[in-house]
Amino acid sequence: MNPYKLLAIQVARKAGNILKKRLGRKRTVRFKGAVNLVTEMDILSEKIIVGEIEKRFPDHAILAEERPATEKASRFLWIIDPLDGTTNYAHGFPVFSVSIALAKDEEVILGVVYDPTRDELFTAEKGKGARLNGRRIRVSSESNLSRSLLATGFPYDLRESKINNFDHFHSFAIRAQAVRRAGSAALDLCYVAAGRFDGFWEMKLGPWDIAAGSLMVAEAGGRATNFLGKPLALSGKHALASNGKIHRAMLRIVRLGKFLK
Ligand code: IPD
Ligand code: CA
Ligand code: CA
Repeated sequence: MNPYKLLAIQVARKAGNILKKRLGRKRTVRFKGAVNLVTEMDILSEKIIVGEIEKRFPDHAILAEERPATEKASRFLWIIDPLDGTTNYAHGFPVFSVSIALAKDEEVILGVVYDPTRDELFTAEKGKGARLNGRRIRVSSESNLSRSLLATGFPYDLRESKINNFDHFHSFAIRAQAVRRAGSAALDLCYVAAGRFDGFWEMKLGPWDIAAGSLMVAEAGGRATNFLGKPLALSGKHALASNGKIHRAMLRIVRLGKFLK
């Protein structure tokens, strides 16, 4: 197996299983914003993942959510969300994941997302398809928005900012079959890849939320773009992912909003 993939799988499992084992315990919580929190488990998971990557590939650059980005000049960049779904985790709600992506020359070539609660490991390699626990996955074939199950999330500054997704949520809720807000963007994207969700949109995401999951969607035959329908850049904040068949219909709705880029 490709050594990068092997390492990403090993560390995602290692960190994910520690998270799972300690789920439900009393947490030490620090607030990054009014509703944006970080627990000691985000930090521990990140230490485990970053430590192993640095040991194995010391020349590679690393962008991980809870620490400053490394200034290293490297063609390789690891993009890590050590705990995607912190709010869920802090409440003992068992929907969270570990997300690890590797970009080469600014293009994501590998994505690994691990959900320890269900022991589901999502992997994608550029040009080689997407897999769930080793089996190939494909996006759904639903072409009708009104029969589609969608996923979204809301930004942490929703109390202060008008760019808060409430208008889009309303527009989609009345047009789709249903909309879910499960609380882990990385998993939402993997569920689009696996055909469990037909589409997903969210604003103000970080690269660690979308790097692995957007490759998963593309490799499963779907589309991942910004709100203008352009390819989703690593620095892209507003993400729209779907099975491809409902993409135009979803784009039309996000375009009704004022905030596109
Ligand atoms: C959050 C989750 C959530 C999404 C937020 C993200 P975090 O990540 O992915 O589903 O709605 O926008 O920031 O903070 O739990 O790593
Ligand atoms: Ca996240
Ligand atoms: Ca996180």
